Amino acid sequence: MERVLHDTWYARPAARSWTCEPAPAGVREFHAALAGYAPTPLTETPGPAAGLGVACLLVKDESSRLGLPAFKALGASWAIHRILAARPGDDPVLLVTATDGNHGRAVARMARLFGQRARVFVPKGVHPAAVAAIAAEGARVTEVGGDYDEAVRGAARAADEPGAVLVQDTAWPGYEETPGWIVEGYSTLFAELDEQLPGTPDLVVVPAGVGSLAQAAVRHYRAGTGAPALMTVEPDSAACVLASLLRGAPVSVETGGTIMAGLNCGTPSSLAWPYLRDGLDAAVAISDADSAAAARDLAADGIAAGPCGAAALAGARAALTGEGAEARRAALGVGPGATVVLLSTEGPDANPAL
Ligand SMILES: Cc1ncc(COP(=O)(O)O)c(C=O)c1O
Repeated sequence: MERVLHDTWYARPAARSWTCEPAPAGVREFHAALAGYAPTPLTETPGPAAGLGVACLLVKDESSRLGLPAFKALGASWAIHRILAARPGDDPVLLVTATDGNHGRAVARMARLFGQRARVFVPKGVHPAAVAAIAAEGARVTEVGGDYDEAVRGAARAADEPGAVLVQDTAWPGYEETPGWIVEGYSTLFAELDEQLPGTPDLVVVPAGVGSLAQAAVRHYRAGTGAPALMTVEPDSAACVLASLLRGAPVSVETGGTIMAGLNCGTPSSLAWPYLRDGLDAAVAISDADSAAAARDLAADGIAAGPCGAAALAGARAALTGEGAEARRAALGVGPGATVVLLSTEGPDANPAL
C-alpha cells in the first residue's frame, strides 16, 4: 500500500506513437437503438479557456446520458447486453456489482430495462441519497463496512451464487471479460466526439478511478484515428493510476474521503493497466478544492459538472498553468493554438452528497 503520494505529475510523450486495436464495431449502433439515446453535447467554454493558454477548450458533457447523470450507462448497457446474449435460455439472472455511485445506478437501471434483478454493494459512507437512487431502480443495496475495494470483493463473493453474474467496471486477473465489454461500451462517447469535432484535438483529459474510461480513450485514439495527448486526472487522495505509472507497475493506494466519489478507487483495473502504461501521455492528481473551484467556473460558463466531471478542468489547469508549466506543456505538445477536450463525466445530480 502506498500511503502518501508526493508526486502529482507523470509524463511519457512516447505514448503518442504507440498503437493498439480499436474497440469492435456495433457498439454505437446498439446504444443508438436504446430508448432515450442522444449524443451528449460537446460545448466550447471560452471562460475557463482564457486562463489555460490554449485556443479552444471543449467540454464533452455527460451530465445527461441515457437518462442518468453520468457516462456509466454506456458501459453497463453494452456489458449486460453481451452477458445476456451469451447465456443459453431465458432464465433471469441476478446482476451483481459494486459501486461508489454511478456505475451501480447504471447497472440497476439497465437490469430493470432488460427485465433482470440487480444487487449493488456500496462502500461505507456512500451518501444515503446515492443509495436511495440505486434502490429506486429496484436494486437491492448492501453497504459493506470498508472502502470501494472491499465492496468489489463483497460483490464478487455474492456473484458466486447460482444464477448471479458480476458486472464490474474494473478487472483483475481471472475476471476480465465483462470489464472488457464495459470498456467497449464507453467507445460510443469517443465515436460521438469524432463526429462532433472535425480534426484531432491536441489533448484529451480523462477523470480516472480504476482507469477503465482512460483505457477506452487510449484504445480509441491509439488505433489510428489521430494522436492527441491523453491525460488522466485523479484525486490526490486516491491516485492509483498515477502511483502505478510512476512505479512502472500496478500498485494499490490507501484511499480516504474525497468529494470526487466516482474517482475514489485504490487499485487500477488489470485490463486497463497495459493500455495506460503504454498509451497514456500524462497523469496528474488534484485536490478537492481544485475540483470544487473548477465546477464553479464551469457553472459560470453554463456547464453543470459534478466533482468528477470538473476534475478534468482542474487537471488541465494543474498541467498547463503554474510553476513548471512550460515543461509540462512541452511534454503534452500543447501550445497556444491547441484544442483541448475535457471529459466532464458527471453532472451535479450524480453526487447527491454535495
Ligand atoms: C463520474 C465518473 N467519472 C469518472 C469515473 C472514472 O472511471 P474509471 O473508474 O473507469 O476510471 C467514474 C467511475 O466510476 C465516474 O463515476
